[in-house]
Amino acid sequence: MPSLEVNVARVESRSALWVDRGLLEKLPTLVSIDHYSSVVVVADKGAARATSRIQASLQLSSSSILAIEGGEGQKSVDGLVHIWNFFVDKKLDRKSLIITVGGGATSDLVGFAAASFMRGVAFIHVPTTLLAQVDASIGGKSGINFKGIKNLIGSIAQPCAVIIDIDTLSTLPERELRSGFAEVIKHGLIADANYFKEVASQNCAQWSPEELVSIVFRSCDIKKRVVEADESEQGPRKTLNFGHSIGHAIESYTLENGPPLTHGEAISIGMIGEAFISYRLGKISQEDLSAIERGLENTGLPTRLPLPISPDRLRELISKDKKNVSGRVKWTLLNAIGVAVFDVEIPEKLIHEALSHIQSGGSCA
Ligand SMILES: NC(=O)c1ccc[n+]([C@@H]2O[C@H](COP(=O)([O-])OP(=O)(O)OC[C@H]3O[C@@H](n4cnc5c(N)ncnc54)[C@H](O)[C@@H]3O)[C@@H](O)[C@H]2O)c1
Ligand SMILES: [Zn+2]
Repeated sequence: MPSLEVNVARVESRSALWVDRGLLEKLPTLVSIDHYSSVVVVADKGAARATSRIQASLQLSSSSILAIEGGEGQKSVDGLVHIWNFFVDKKLDRKSLIITVGGGATSDLVGFAAASFMRGVAFIHVPTTLLAQVDASIGGKSGINFKGIKNLIGSIAQPCAVIIDIDTLSTLPERELRSGFAEVIKHGLIADANYFKEVASQNCAQWSPEELVSIVFRSCDIKKRVVEADESEQGPRKTLNFGHSIGHAIESYTLENGPPLTHGEAISIGMIGEAFISYRLGKISQEDLSAIERGLENTGLPTRLPLPISPDRLRELISKDKKNVSGRVKWTLLNAIGVAVFDVEIPEKLIHEALSHIQSGGSCA
């Protein structure tokens, strides 16, 4: 079965990663649970089917499973305390194993609970949304939101394994699948032009489960290479932020002013804005910009803002980004399709032009 090993510089930071169909039934061959003093599962209620499969496969009692609501609302201090309480009730010790099951909000929250409990207990991610499979479960970043700021409190701690069973996606709503595809397309845009061409060639709902095994594997491989080169995001890991300076601003704006976009939808529009900036700086051609727009449209993702945002408000939201240093926005842009550059500073007027572009009816320049 397709597998990877994510090796980061820190000691004891090796994560095995498997991608295939039907993996949850093979868990006993992938995880030696006898190695651990106890095993608990913290599972997103949205991933109930995957959780039952894990319970049957590892023959776990119901009392070793904590079901939590999925979604962003859980990534809070209260959500964290709820999980720590479960760990204490279950008398976990340093030799225990925690299995997280669910979307990226669940892996972020439970990964942080595991990384902070007794200064770190081993955990395995079983991601069940496409976004969690190709992005959130790899690289070890975890955390919660605080005072309205996303991921303000968190840590970097690697899971000991990531087990990606593509069959878990069968219950995922199409909108969530599309949201994950924005990150898949981003991987092509920042690292592999051929991969971009391939994954942007059709509506994402048309891929078969077998084709998704290969897509998820290739995306994981790209993210793995980036993370291995720069675990703590001092350099190349910043390339993963392509589309996210404008995208996060749009995501926050639609959360406040509704209807909210999913993360991937906002990042899709953000990638158009940031590809436009790359084009205006002469880094990519107008044909490249058009190809990116067409690719995102093929996939079914939005390429224009669904509601107007004033330039001042967009600028204000971009300036709140955690990635900024001393108030200066450092952009990740494209030098070509498949090649990203980071830490670029741009003239202020280009942000306004990019906003007009993503607010316009769809012509490319
Ligand atoms: N740590 C990282 O490196 C990293 C990277 C990217 C995103 N993230 C985080 O990931 C989160 C977003 O992740 P997400 O898009 O997976 O959203 P999510 O975790 O909120 O899940 C979306 C919805 O899908 C449901 N769900 C999960 N699995 C399902 C399944 N198999 N079938 C049906 N429904 C299912 C969940 O219950 C939830 O309602 C954000 O909090 C973001 O900050 C983290
Ligand atoms: Zn993202």
